[in-house]
Amino acid sequence: MTAGPLIDWPAIERAAIDVRTRAYAPYSRYAVGSAILTASGQTFVGCNVENASYGLCVCAERSAIVQMIAAGARDPIAVAVVTEGPVPAAPCGMCRQTLAEFATDLPIHLLVAGDPSATIETTLAELLPRAFRADALPEKPAC
Ligand code: THU
Repeated sequence: MTAGPLIDWPAIERAAIDVRTRAYAPYSRYAVGSAILTASGQTFVGCNVENASYGLCVCAERSAIVQMIAAGARDPIAVAVVTEGPVPAAPCGMCRQTLAEFATDLPIHLLVAGDPSATIETTLAELLPRAFRADALPEKPAC
């Protein structure tokens, strides 16, 4: 068995907890924070950003992925998501699919703010088995 990359989970989780305080969620009042660690050791964070036109709401996870791509990184190796309790929330289907664009599998920690005992450790492959990926397309993307 080979060891995986060293992941500083407390640091990623703190980043997700911190960014959650900046969520813009006046409609649902459900603040979400997410942090993504990349293979190069960079951490990107995102929070949910809601809109009076409800369908435009952006989830915390996709917000973090957008930050990662805009910075030139495409290799996530770990994700943390923080919500309110009583139970942690798993990424929605759209966010799972967006993560699957950039990784076949990833460890994901789901946290409840203020309750470390509630943390669930899962993976992208567990949350989204048989993900739809670019290799299913007849024409391969150029970049
Ligand atoms: N939300 C996220 O940020 N991530 C998810 O994976 C699920 C839901 C946000 C969207 C909306 O702002 C609020 O949580 C309630 O659905």
